[in-house]
Amino acid sequence: MFDYKHAVIYQVWPRSFYDSNHDGIGDINGIRAKLPHIRSLHCDAIWLSPVYASPNDDFGYDISDYCSINPEFGTMEDLEALIQEADALGMKIIMDLVVNHTSTSHAWFQKALKDPSSPYRDYYIFRKGTETQAPNNWISFFGGSAWQKAEQDMWYMTLYTKTQADLNWTNPAVIDEIVKITDFWLEKGIAGFRMDTINTIDKIEGLPSKNPEKKGLQFADDYVIDRPNVRPYLQQLRDRSLSRYDSFALGEGVMTTEASVRNLCGPDGPLDMMFHFDLATLGYGALGKYDFRKGYIITDRMIKKVTRKWQQEQMRDHTWIGNYLSNHDHKRHLDRFGNDRKYRVVSAKMLALYNFTLIGTPLIYQGEEIGMTNPKLKKSDWRDYEAFSSSKEMTNMLHVPAFLAEKITNFVDRDNARTPVQWNSHQYAGFSDHEPWICVNPDYLEWNVESQEKQSDSILNFYRTISRIHHEHDCLVTGSWSELLETHPHVLAYLRKGETETALVVLNLSGFCQKIKLPDACVSNAQSALSNYETRTIEAQMRLKPYEAHLWFLNGN
Ligand code: NOJ
Ligand code: CA
Repeated sequence: MFDYKHAVIYQVWPRSFYDSNHDGIGDINGIRAKLPHIRSLHCDAIWLSPVYASPNDDFGYDISDYCSINPEFGTMEDLEALIQEADALGMKIIMDLVVNHTSTSHAWFQKALKDPSSPYRDYYIFRKGTETQAPNNWISFFGGSAWQKAEQDMWYMTLYTKTQADLNWTNPAVIDEIVKITDFWLEKGIAGFRMDTINTIDKIEGLPSKNPEKKGLQFADDYVIDRPNVRPYLQQLRDRSLSRYDSFALGEGVMTTEASVRNLCGPDGPLDMMFHFDLATLGYGALGKYDFRKGYIITDRMIKKVTRKWQQEQMRDHTWIGNYLSNHDHKRHLDRFGNDRKYRVVSAKMLALYNFTLIGTPLIYQGEEIGMTNPKLKKSDWRDYEAFSSSKEMTNMLHVPAFLAEKITNFVDRDNARTPVQWNSHQYAGFSDHEPWICVNPDYLEWNVESQEKQSDSILNFYRTISRIHHEHDCLVTGSWSELLETHPHVLAYLRKGETETALVVLNLSGFCQKIKLPDACVSNAQSALSNYETRTIEAQMRLKPYEAHLWFLNGN
């Protein structure tokens, strides 16, 4: 099997990666052209966000045919060539498997909708309501009712956009279809799948008509997230398909908890690894990124707490997670966990050092390796369904004035993370020679791959170095994790103790100088491996500069 524990994974969101055919939309041949860039970061695999046929209501996460390629992205031959060329460079492809729902344009759904007696009806979750009322008061994760009307009093469930119809996993025929899909892709030589919203595939039986005590999205905890059949369903998929190809499965789940990770990717679980959202959602209110009631404030103590929780959890329960700072579902991380103005370079490097030295597989989201950050969006820049629908709901349901809803949306919109990768300082950041489908961050003139190639101390070269070090020092993969300076409000420090070597990591999470005192035993024999300031020898008492970060290796263990 793909050695996912020792791997570094690069996430490509194809629409914004690189355009090879001059239409302003990133594509598969664009990824092929840039494979050497990804490999230069010592990546072992590429997780490809969806490239399947799709009407793009949720930019590919609404699939209308699982076994064909969206023509905007290229052809099946292009994809096969990508798999082979990546392989020749030592990288595997991980496809996105989106099987909580299909697009309503999928042939299964079209047949189900047109003919109530079609066997495809039972592929989805159709329920009786009344002519005017949905079967119950559940709402979608993107706002608005979770039900769309089919005919008369009949409705179907859509937990995401209105054109993503939830599949009915209680129907064995649905699992048979999914097995065919995973077999189809595994035959092509991919390493495995990133499974989208995988802990919501089992909905409560009987679907209660109302849950009056719980408002808004809170119904989801009890009725659609982490229900008992998720594991047996995935075990079937594992036994019938994935195991036959010795392939790998990375689960993405809504509000993933420790219990869910333990259940699904413990030593005998059906998945190998999972994502949690605790870091990504810091500063959000209980209802998600559009819940502004906590003011989006993130303290260093909050980062320390989340880190401690998941590092200790993995050691205790032998589970494994994917560590990421950014992805296509949240605004980029630099202005959330670091500082993208005065300390852009040092804080980007500090956060990279953090992400590559934790237990779990590090992921890089396209563009973070050059310190890409969020553009200042305007409403005319919005492209994402969630932006439009959530801002509308903020006004309708929460009575937030429209101007404020717009401001909040500009701030948290997923489009922030979806602007084109900045390759050089030419027009459109070298992403395309045609106007791109979404705005380019105007800071590309200064912040781009080409200019950072030339600077030995650039963020890009720092990512290359930390990724290489991660591969060369097994203690960063298999070593235990123990915290130092636990009560320090701003400095996160830990040891990764391996069989023959120990790493010491010290990170000033703040934009201010901080004083620390390290244990003498660490100080006596440490060798500096990497720092985001000029490399310094270790001292028992140190004054760290803003965002200063260090990796030392201690002789012996
Ligand atoms: C999670 C995906 O990452 C996100 O982009 C998508 O909108 C939802 N799942 C629904 O598929
Ligand atoms: Ca293109």
